[in-house]
Amino acid sequence: MKIGFLGVGTIASCMIEGFCDLGDEHQFFLSPRNTQKSAALAERYGNVTVCDSNQHVVDQCEVVFISMLATNCLDVLRGLNFRASQRIINVVATIPPEDIIDAVGQTKSFSHVIPLPAIKHRIGPIAAYPESDFLANLLMPMGTIVFAKSMDEIRAMQAITGLMSAFYDMLHHLTIFAEAEGLGRKESTSFISTFFASLCHNVNDADFAELAAEMTPGGLNELAQRTLAEAGALKAWADVMGPVMERIKRA
Ligand SMILES: NC(=O)c1ccc[n+]([C@@H]2O[C@H](COP(=O)([O-])OP(=O)(O)OC[C@H]3O[C@@H](n4cnc5c(N)ncnc54)[C@H](OP(=O)(O)O)[C@@H]3O)[C@@H](O)[C@H]2O)c1
Repeated sequence: MKIGFLGVGTIASCMIEGFCDLGDEHQFFLSPRNTQKSAALAERYGNVTVCDSNQHVVDQCEVVFISMLATNCLDVLRGLNFRASQRIINVVATIPPEDIIDAVGQTKSFSHVIPLPAIKHRIGPIAAYPESDFLANLLMPMGTIVFAKSMDEIRAMQAITGLMSAFYDMLHHLTIFAEAEGLGRKESTSFISTFFASLCHNVNDADFAELAAEMTPGGLNELAQRTLAEAGALKAWADVMGPVMERIKRA
């Protein structure tokens, strides 16, 4: 399939690397911006071509990802001629779908997708709306697709992605603790990262509350959970979703 990217920054680069490391099933046509990132991807992968304009990307492709910043995105899209036979996939998190559809005009399909940088390694969640066989087939090898039934559901998943920095910061504090106890930085990082990754391995549709309750009575986990709950530290993660959702809805 011929796939275009309008905007080649952090997230588009991760997607292109994820796709290309899988093989050369698709051909990719990239906007010239960002010049360095597009050129580096074209140099690395034989199935990646840098186009000389955004219109050239649109003209070449059956599927076009919109992956630039929101700032002037709608103006850029209004200046391009899309075809009714094309499929558009928007990854710009903060522009309502109706505004993008209005800017690109009638196309074969329009989807809203939230990828995350780990898509580069073809792991992690990909929030997508609406559900379609086309998106399922395209993105299945790239991670775990979670289809939303509405844009409100997409926004809820988007809000949860706002916890990345807080999560890493929490791990950083644990690293400081481990180092103070004499563990090296490398060992701390290795242990902490694989420990937390393993907690969600094969969880599938398990009930998190039930998993939380699976602890030795009077044991270390009970002590840590009770202490954190009393400090409000556990509920604080969900409480912060309120202001994050407000910000998303205001955008
Ligand atoms: N980063 C993430 O984890 C993530 C996850 C999900 C969704 N998103 C969404 O993805 C979008 C891009 O995010 P990002 O983090 O990848 O940002 P980014 O690294 O700043 O990438 C944006 C890219 O768009 C290019 N660009 C600017 N104006 C353009 C134009 N007129 N035509 C074509 N390309 C143009 C920029 O080129 P220059 O460098 O030359 O300005 C830059 O390479 C955002 O809307 C964001 O909401 C990001």
